[in-house]
Amino acid sequence: MAEDLTIIKGTKEEQYRELIPQIKGLLEGETDLIANLANIASALKEQFGWLWVGFYLVRKDELVLGPFQGPVACTRIKKGRGVCGIAWEKAATMIVADVKKFPGHIACSSLSRSEIVVPLINKGEVFGVLDADSAELDAYDQTDKRFLEEIVSFINM
Ligand code: SME
Repeated sequence: MAEDLTIIKGTKEEQYRELIPQIKGLLEGETDLIANLANIASALKEQFGWLWVGFYLVRKDELVLGPFQGPVACTRIKKGRGVCGIAWEKAATMIVADVKKFPGHIACSSLSRSEIVVPLINKGEVFGVLDADSAELDAYDQTDKRFLEEIVSFINM
């Protein structure tokens, strides 16, 4: 695996385009899920500097906190609760431009202003979610959705 990350300047799309092959390099030859999630969280945090980025994994009827970068976070989220629990229930990416206007948003950090949650899907089943939080309003758009969905498609359970 590659062990150094090159941080790129440029448009969001350019940043993702340079980051994706590096993430593939990080995952190459490593089959351990936790190790791979940890490196993806780190690579995204290093490149984009978001407030919080990490994973929750499905454990029975709830999501449990997995590898992440950023401030401490709530450890368990029920299906259908918060942005993460809704992304799990719907098996669909959720973009929240203003968390204060999203009913049911779970505020792990009072500094979070916007959020994107992307489900991890294996054989039609959601096994976790990628969650990214920004201190800026309206930080995430269709470009993030497209590239983050591509990144999570590299994750093998
Ligand atoms: N805001 C999330 C909870 C997780 S933290 O942001 C890390 C939610 O509403 O599901």
